[in-house]
Amino acid sequence: MAIIIHTLKLGSMDNFIHFVADTDSKNIMVVDPAWEAETILTFIDKNGYHLTGILLTHSHADHISALKPILAQRQVPVYISRTEFRLGRVRVKNPHYIEDGERIPLGKADIEVIFTPGHTSGGVCFLADKHLIAGDTLFIDGCGRCNFRESDVEQMWHSLQRLKQLPDDTVIYCGHDYGQQATATIGQQKLTNPYLLIDDKAFFIAFRMHLQSQYRSIPFKPSSAAEMQAIRAAHQNTVARQIKN
Ligand SMILES: [Fe+2]
Repeated sequence: MAIIIHTLKLGSMDNFIHFVADTDSKNIMVVDPAWEAETILTFIDKNGYHLTGILLTHSHADHISALKPILAQRQVPVYISRTEFRLGRVRVKNPHYIEDGERIPLGKADIEVIFTPGHTSGGVCFLADKHLIAGDTLFIDGCGRCNFRESDVEQMWHSLQRLKQLPDDTVIYCGHDYGQQATATIGQQKLTNPYLLIDDKAFFIAFRMHLQSQYRSIPFKPSSAAEMQAIRAAHQNTVARQIKN
């Protein structure tokens, strides 16, 4: 039994479309199918895989735009959280509502669901063996926006604290190619990702919601504990001056 991840980069927004495949059964699931349905299906068929399901980390258009054309050709279950489905953008009959901690079978292996709301209210990550499919929750040296109507920055903080607990050798597969490299491990990201380096919830919220645009742009560069401490000190000085005035 071996789980492997395949990735296509499609569309105009640097989306990564990941596949979780079981090499023994040749069963495969696609995560967040978007942009080019035919390219996605051709990849599956050419490599001799059988599509057994569609996993959705969340329901933004750049993650679901190929859903309908794929379902028109393959009748497979769509796995989505109930909260995300209620946002109303995924229009499928009888979705499979996933629960936190649920294990979705793939051949003899399985894929664990980790609820990670924040970017959207019903967002999830998927963990297969040591591979974390992170959607728009965690990017290489970045994290998902929290200023949508359905976002909650405090939930994002808690979701990232959860992902930090995964083993250091867990490999991260993001929803967008926004970093200097396509993947990294949790252990590496704990050293360079500002959102994993910040250990203070109030500063996390200020940085994500207000300060990020001053200091960070795509492609995100690695940060460091020293850099984040300096930014925090500068921010605290600014706040102190504002209180004084
Ligand atoms: Fe998104």
